[in-house]
Amino acid sequence: MSEPLILGIETSCDDTGAAVVRGNKLLANVVNSQDVHVAWGGVVPELASRAHQQQIVPMVDLALQKAGVSFADIEGIAVTAGPGLMGSLLVGVQFAKGLSLSLGIPCMGVHHLEAHVLVHFLEEKHPPFPYLCLLVSGGHTQIVQVDAADKLMVLGKTWDDAVGEAFDKSAKMLGLPYPGGPFIDKYAQEGKPVFRFSKAQIPGLDFSFSGFKTSVRYFLEEQIQKKPEFISENLQNLCASVQQNLIETLLQKLQMASKQTGIRHIALAGGVAANQGLRHLIKEIALKENWHVYIPRLPFCTDNAAMIAMAGVFKFEKGIWLPDDFVPFPSGNNH
Ligand code: KG4
Ligand code: ZN
Repeated sequence: MSEPLILGIETSCDDTGAAVVRGNKLLANVVNSQDVHVAWGGVVPELASRAHQQQIVPMVDLALQKAGVSFADIEGIAVTAGPGLMGSLLVGVQFAKGLSLSLGIPCMGVHHLEAHVLVHFLEEKHPPFPYLCLLVSGGHTQIVQVDAADKLMVLGKTWDDAVGEAFDKSAKMLGLPYPGGPFIDKYAQEGKPVFRFSKAQIPGLDFSFSGFKTSVRYFLEEQIQKKPEFISENLQNLCASVQQNLIETLLQKLQMASKQTGIRHIALAGGVAANQGLRHLIKEIALKENWHVYIPRLPFCTDNAAMIAMAGVFKFEKGIWLPDDFVPFPSGNNH
């Protein structure tokens, strides 16, 4: 049997993505990242769904064109079924259902987090089962044990903010634009982690970042009272300190998870996996712990349709289709 040609669609938040894969070979992956939200300092749901409506047809057309295929060649459509913003999810799911009906091909509903975790199968070097995946993004912070493509177990997750939110909120306090994670990363490379912020002592493999956020705020308020230019004079060191605190917490829990499970194939996924400090430190730990580390290329870390298409391939092969009366699920295991 030849590898299935699958169209993937991702509209869970503020990126309109379309991709085409043949089995685990990527043929095209395009994304329109909405910039309407920048002025608001966060994603505005109504603006997001309107922008998805405007972008979904051009993005799908572009993906097909780049892949050199037409609608008639596509054998199945994979779409993000949740979690995410309801208005955004509805645009993708309704479009995918309509297209699957008109083409007479199956539609697969993909869990967004499952897709992040399975994106590794698009890479030449992918982890064998079982592996651990640290899934870190603006909406999620989880350690997932992946025993098979359809057998995922969440070993730990955050009790409050996701680590991407902790990056973004700290960046906002430092006067950096949204989303601030990449700016913290950039300035951290020019600074030293000389400031200490609190680290939550959460039992087991769970996380919490709200105490950290509060400690950054109190620290900055106190320093600015003494010297109003404190942030601008210490921006690089502040970014390095925020970054070190957050990535150390992530990696300590990951080390704990590896010890508990005995699994040494370790993967990163999600937008925060783009962080240079995290990518560097995990490689250092890997040498010490004898880990095999799998880090996806940057466009596979942030939200993308390639991962949806890849997860869709696994479902296509098992014949798991979306029911006709399916309604997307906005929440569930969101962090
Ligand atoms: O996976 P993603 O694109 O969307 C969600 O599903 O949330 O992740 C976006 C998050 C944002 O919080 C952003 O600030 C963070 O990933 N991020 C980074 C970096 N690049 C993106 N955080 C730290 N360092 C980076 N280089
Ligand atoms: Zn995501």
